[in-house]
Amino acid sequence: MPSFPSYRPRRLRRTDALRRLVRETRLEPSQFVLPLFVRSGAGVRLPIESMPGVAQTSVDELLIDAREAASLGIGGVLLFGIPDTKDAMGSQAWNDDAPVQQAVRALKRELPDLVVITDVCLCEYTDHGHCGVIRDGDVDNDATLELLARESVSHARAGADIIAPSDMMDGRVRAIRAALDAGGFANTAILSYAAKFAGPFYGPFREAAESTPQFGDRRSYQMDAANSDEALREVRLDIEEGADMIMVKPAGPFLDVIHRVKAETGYPLAAYQVSGEFAMIQAAAERGWIDRERAMMESLLGIRRAGADIIVTYFARDAARAL
Ligand code: PBG
Repeated sequence: MPSFPSYRPRRLRRTDALRRLVRETRLEPSQFVLPLFVRSGAGVRLPIESMPGVAQTSVDELLIDAREAASLGIGGVLLFGIPDTKDAMGSQAWNDDAPVQQAVRALKRELPDLVVITDVCLCEYTDHGHCGVIRDGDVDNDATLELLARESVSHARAGADIIAPSDMMDGRVRAIRAALDAGGFANTAILSYAAKFAGPFYGPFREAAESTPQFGDRRSYQMDAANSDEALREVRLDIEEGADMIMVKPAGPFLDVIHRVKAETGYPLAAYQVSGEFAMIQAAAERGWIDRERAMMESLLGIRRAGADIIVTYFARDAARAL
């Protein structure tokens, strides 16, 4: 490699046009997925305090947001439901007339080209806030699988393109794949939250989804933040069980995991820039401590550069507009 003075790296940094020409990583709206929170009613829009700009909405209002996302060229939406009632099993999760199922039907009718992904988990639906059924004070893995499968089939029946299980039970991808195939939904894809780490960055989301655990925490099912070899094992397992795409979550603190997973699997990889990552930038920007737009774009660029193909982000619309 030539060195100074024959090689001068600054030559290619002189103008916007040159910098653009040699840019290695690009962001496109089609790579973004926008999370949306849906509840029952009409004309409802309840702002989430810890996530400025994000709201729980009824289906009619959700369509307004989704239409805007589609017109900006955003790749897809990821739906979370807030049910009217909760119980120990989370039975509203597989109610064909619950808010998520209604939203999926409305989206596929109104915006057939927008990819609709549904989050499959029980924590929004259980009265205890855990991601599965409780037995002897802990989440019962195998008893939960059947419920996740029911929820997935209900979402597929409504017309979801992609089912995204975020519960972190062992064996759920196999159980969901089998149930989808048996139900006649062989073409419904699975995006598995394969490497999902327990931690503080989901705090604001739990206000948004009303899914804070009523006792204990999620460390007996979500991963320990220290482990990246284990993340690879989780990812390989989910691929063997039938996952079409995989996810690493959160994104910012786990860029090394994103990089390893992409390099070692080559599978379509999504990374979730979660509520806490979003809230930190919003809060600092509100105080005038950081340039919101530049911090947003740099955080997204870092996630892409690490190797993610798709970014799930609450910034999807703002970033698409900025592009
Ligand atoms: C459901 C789920 C969570 C998130 C996505 N799906 C919360 C959790 O695991 O506690 C978090 C998303 C975010 O923080 O933006 N299990």
